[in-house]
Amino acid sequence: MLEAPGGRRIRYLRLSVTGRCQLACVYCGEAEGGDSPLSPSDFGRLAEVALSLGIYNFRITGGEPLLREDLPEIVGRISKLGPGDLSLTTNGIELSDSARDLRRAGLRRVNIGLPALDRELYLRMTGVDALDRALEGVDAALREGLLPVKVNVVLVRGMNDSQVEDFVRFSREKGVVVRFIEVMPFGIEDGLVPADEVLKRLGPGEDVEVVGSGPAEYFRRDGALVGLITPITRPFCERCDRLRVTAEGKLVPCITSDFGEDMVRAIGEGKIEEAFRRVVKYKPLRYGTFHGSMRLIGG
Ligand code: 5AD
Repeated sequence: MLEAPGGRRIRYLRLSVTGRCQLACVYCGEAEGGDSPLSPSDFGRLAEVALSLGIYNFRITGGEPLLREDLPEIVGRISKLGPGDLSLTTNGIELSDSARDLRRAGLRRVNIGLPALDRELYLRMTGVDALDRALEGVDAALREGLLPVKVNVVLVRGMNDSQVEDFVRFSREKGVVVRFIEVMPFGIEDGLVPADEVLKRLGPGEDVEVVGSGPAEYFRRDGALVGLITPITRPFCERCDRLRVTAEGKLVPCITSDFGEDMVRAIGEGKIEEAFRRVVKYKPLRYGTFHGSMRLIGG
């Protein structure tokens, strides 16, 4: 068992498999990277040790994980260990081509980042005219039963804050969970839309029990299932149960950490468990300064 300062049990590992992405979202931050130096069997080794330490939930992220051709193999290596959960964060653009393979490899579910439902606005926020492809990705995830499909919407004032009601309708019509996320200041200084403003705008809804094990607060509104993720106005550090492996292959204790253990080396030396035990001690009680980019840290 791994316990971080403040009595936080670590149960969740996020693995960034690449620092590449087709998109350049306004909120992501500048820094880019290449593929992680870790191979599918490396990820399998990490997951195996993580499981032995009580970390049973895994999320594969990036960058855009679907840009790694060996993604199904990475999924397969982890899924055969019998994790509690195995999910993927993606922009959805390539998902219609690979959802079936991923499902067969053992992927359980996906979160799809979708900042807008309007073509022009999607282009403005991501730099790429790919809304239709992303929507095909949502449909493919539903078709393959990668459920619940969660759609992540990072809200930015003056851009997609006008889309809140459209996303609620989308949630109801498609049967996906829509989660509004407060923007963390990576590539962007302004633009925060506090979650309470979204709540006020949508009016009273019926609170629902926790969906999944993450920090989102959920409620139902007009047949839609809506989540709010509030890293800025209600930080959830005291409940944070995760560690991350960045696209550079570093195990870090927090989204804002500079300190990390080089896992290529740890794997080479057969000292994976030691690396986990060291990193967890440095998990801060509260996140520090946001810097770098979500591509490298892992969204
Ligand atoms: N603040 C909050 N969430 C972000 N994401 C990316 N950048 C930010 C940010 N600055 C989220 C998006 C995306 C995932 C990879 O990370 O939801 O889907």
